[in-house]
Amino acid sequence: MARRHDAYNEDVAGRANVEDTPELVAYYKDLERFEAGALWTVANKIEPWEPKSDSVPVLWRYDDLREHVLRSVDLVTPEKAGRRVIYLNNPGRQDVAAAVGWIYAGLQVMHPGERASAHRHSASAIRFIMEGAGAYTIVDGHKMTLGRNDFVLTPNGTWHEHAVAEDGSPCIWQDGLDIPLVNALEANFYEVHPDLQQAVAFEVNDMTKTWGNPGLTPAGESWTKGYSPLFKYEWEPTYEALSKRAACTDGSPFDGVMMEYVNPATNGPVMQTMGASMQMLRPGEKTRAHRHTGSFLYHVAKGSGHSIINGKRFDWTERDIFCVPSWAWHEHANASDTEDACLFCLNDLPVMRALGLYREQAFGENGGHQPLG
Ligand SMILES: [Fe+2]
Ligand SMILES: [Fe+2]
Repeated sequence: MARRHDAYNEDVAGRANVEDTPELVAYYKDLERFEAGALWTVANKIEPWEPKSDSVPVLWRYDDLREHVLRSVDLVTPEKAGRRVIYLNNPGRQDVAAAVGWIYAGLQVMHPGERASAHRHSASAIRFIMEGAGAYTIVDGHKMTLGRNDFVLTPNGTWHEHAVAEDGSPCIWQDGLDIPLVNALEANFYEVHPDLQQAVAFEVNDMTKTWGNPGLTPAGESWTKGYSPLFKYEWEPTYEALSKRAACTDGSPFDGVMMEYVNPATNGPVMQTMGASMQMLRPGEKTRAHRHTGSFLYHVAKGSGHSIINGKRFDWTERDIFCVPSWAWHEHANASDTEDACLFCLNDLPVMRALGLYREQAFGENGGHQPLG
């Protein structure tokens, strides 16, 4: 059967609505010969009324994945694999290996004494520590020791390598990168360090000691790079900040008590392409639904509960990861009446905001809660 060129027609004033005729189809074929086409045959497809994400909401259960992540230790070495990572592949984004939208994510495992080779790339990364002791990362000569629920930045262009100390235990962490975005922009470079490893050039955790003090920045120090000098964000001060804030706010009806991780030199996002936040759902808290542009990858740092995403319920517990695609309705609920729940979130909001593409909408019906589909 001949291909139709009017499949996207809409009978709406201002939208393309041209029926195929033998004469038009012949015209379209002529255009194709010159690598050209008539806009009205595709206009309604490439300019949807509102964002249409190819990503689908997914919950990755740690219980399902953990044993398979550990199996990779017996199957490949970090030297051979480069990085021993099991990546999260959204069914709608397999073509670009994304977990959601333009965000890549994976679970990396390393045993004590293992050290991955140093490298750098145009893509930016964060690493969120899930389990194990003794993990450390070196970014441009700055060595950072990493504990549970800490996360560390490896911004674009920085030399970085990951390792687990000899006296540590097997470590698993979540990687999150903007690889699909940088590839879509056709701007990705990758380099392996000429010595395969980099020297530690500063006092261990110096950037945390210098830039990680609340309300204080180091006098006489300037920082003009596009990413945060505070390469590591620790769990304890984050949880303490959320607990303090929770004591003096009702929080957001959509997010509970949420704090954004910032670049202390600018108060802007931690990196130019990716932002991060941690939110607390207080005991029994149930948020109302909203939707916004941008892609969101949640990691359950503490507690258990559920989220309803586009009418579908996903029950989560500590260490599970789930995604909210752009413009998908979502609401969260803490399952416990006595314990709080905390969700770490990696997102591409800095891109949305910088490009003027951020939009948000509350779910107005049914008391702000989606009917289950
Ligand atoms: Fe990397
Ligand atoms: Fe949201």
